[in-house]
Amino acid sequence: MKHTDLAIDRAGTVLASVEPVDVALVFGSGLSALADEVETDFTAPFADLPECPGGGEVAGHAGRLVVGRLAGTRVAAFAGRVHRYQGLSAREAAWPVRVAAALGAGTVVVTNAAGGIGSRLTTGGLVLITDHINLTGDSPLVGWPGPAGGNPFVPMSDAYDPRLRAIAADVAGELGIGLAEGVYAAVLGPNYETPAEVRALETLGADMVGMSTVPEVIAARALGMRVLGISLVTNVAAGAHISHDEVLAAGQAATGDLVRLLPAILGHL
Ligand code: HPA
Repeated sequence: MKHTDLAIDRAGTVLASVEPVDVALVFGSGLSALADEVETDFTAPFADLPECPGGGEVAGHAGRLVVGRLAGTRVAAFAGRVHRYQGLSAREAAWPVRVAAALGAGTVVVTNAAGGIGSRLTTGGLVLITDHINLTGDSPLVGWPGPAGGNPFVPMSDAYDPRLRAIAADVAGELGIGLAEGVYAAVLGPNYETPAEVRALETLGADMVGMSTVPEVIAARALGMRVLGISLVTNVAAGAHISHDEVLAAGQAATGDLVRLLPAILGHL
């Protein structure tokens, strides 16, 4: 497919000697442990890759792409992601997915840390994203030429692939890992929500709230990729004492289930 997207074009050239991948993994705050388990044949800091927005810094850490095999599957793992709250557009925030497209990925697995809304979800638990509500007022398809001849008016029903969701639920069941289901609301951030905002989000039908993921998912759908999304609930939304450090620590503490779940899912994709 011919692309007119600069990140895809240039990544395609720069990464031409890297063996293509089947699956891209985008890791949320504190959830990058799995990137260390990839049998790596190519790795680079984000900053060394074409068109990397925001200088490759992600919440004070250098983002890193790790390409290789995980549980027998060719993967491109993005340790760290790009956020709109860094002053970037949704199109820029979708950069990992655009690089993944250049590497040939047909499936994207996005993970994130999220605040839990309502009493149904438990802190530390994993949630399969069934759908999202984009409250950021931006889309990665604004101003994006996309694949040549492609259609920016992308349908978003079943954006989170039903078959992949069924696989994830089955595998979680087999491993005895709790996996709830929920709707993810994306906000701009970087501030956390007010209690009134969380009540409003609950009324809108959201189960989780976070500051990422949605630009990547929209871009992935525009590029014809299948999407699986998993949130880790790191805190109660609008909880009294949320801090970024606590969210990172909660992500790291609860990352064990994700580290067991994702490689097991890969074998079924
Ligand atoms: N709100 C928004 N984003 C988040 C939260 C939250 O409570 N927790 C982790 N990411």
